[in-house]
Amino acid sequence: MVDRFRRDPSVNEANTKSEKGRRVAAFGYHAGFAGAALALIAWAWQLTHANDEPLYGMKPYENETALIKDVKHAVEEGKEKAGHLPRVLVIGALGRCGSGAVGLCKKAGLLEIIPDQAQKWDLPETSAKPGPYQEIIESDVFVNCIYLSAKIPPFIEPQSLSSHDRKLSVVCDVSCDTTNPHNPIPIYDINTTFSNPTVPVKLPSGASDVPLSVISIDHLPSLLPREASEAFSNQLLPSLLELKDWKNVRVWQQAEKLFDEKCATLPDGAVDGKAELSASQS
Ligand SMILES: *[C@@H]1O[C@H](CO)[C@@H](O)[C@H](O)[C@H]1NC(C)=O
Ligand SMILES: *[C@@H]1O[C@H](CO)[C@@H](O)[C@H](O)[C@H]1NC(C)=O
Repeated sequence: MVDRFRRDPSVNEANTKSEKGRRVAAFGYHAGFAGAALALIAWAWQLTHANDEPLYGMKPYENETALIKDVKHAVEEGKEKAGHLPRVLVIGALGRCGSGAVGLCKKAGLLEIIPDQAQKWDLPETSAKPGPYQEIIESDVFVNCIYLSAKIPPFIEPQSLSSHDRKLSVVCDVSCDTTNPHNPIPIYDINTTFSNPTVPVKLPSGASDVPLSVISIDHLPSLLPREASEAFSNQLLPSLLELKDWKNVRVWQQAEKLFDEKCATLPDGAVDGKAELSASQS
């Protein structure tokens, strides 16, 4: 278990926080970026294929340019069928993940053509008015980028999917709180994968035949391994350069404190690796 802890990138990622408690290095931007890209590809796919034909499996892209090219091409095809560009709603738009989603929309040309094609929501909007939100139902694509830290009212209610004003056909839940009892998007219950990126949502009776798919991949940044790794290493490098003085540097002091706290919660006998790690660190 300690071994898993030592290797699990999400734990390590969470381990290195700055003074303000913000992560020193995180993959959030590219999670949002890749999530929005897949959501737009899925939107176009639905318009150009039969309802029961699931979106094809994805492979990691050699670089961002290649991904943008595919997204633009898909959006063009979708636009031709739909007669309009997709309207995208990003919730959590000001965070790392949300800025990635909005950044993708920009690079895919949505915001150049119609500046408010992406509706950007963050805490002011969601605190001013609790969910569920009809605005989500009336968008073509919804990208969820919130950081769920407490129980909040759901963003979507399953019944609202039968609304005749529903345009929503793709949800990308970048936050991916699939099994969290407070998941604000309680319309799906599995995680999807790159080889099988979408799961169809079972619509309530009386709903229109506009399909609805969810993308709930919890390792989205690996769609863009090059850019995601470069961004992560750029963020982490300054702290790594301080590692030689790790006992006096706040980031590493906190990382050690958290490591010890987590190790203390492990059952007896599981901590062999801890001694080994402490020894190798000093
Ligand atoms: C990006 O990837 C594409 C195809 O995967 C390749 O043709 C192109 O040369 C790459 N561009 C750069 C700048 O590496
Ligand atoms: C889905 O992914 C999330 C995030 O990694 C994880 O917490 C959850 O346990 C996963 N749920 C399922 C059903 O695999």
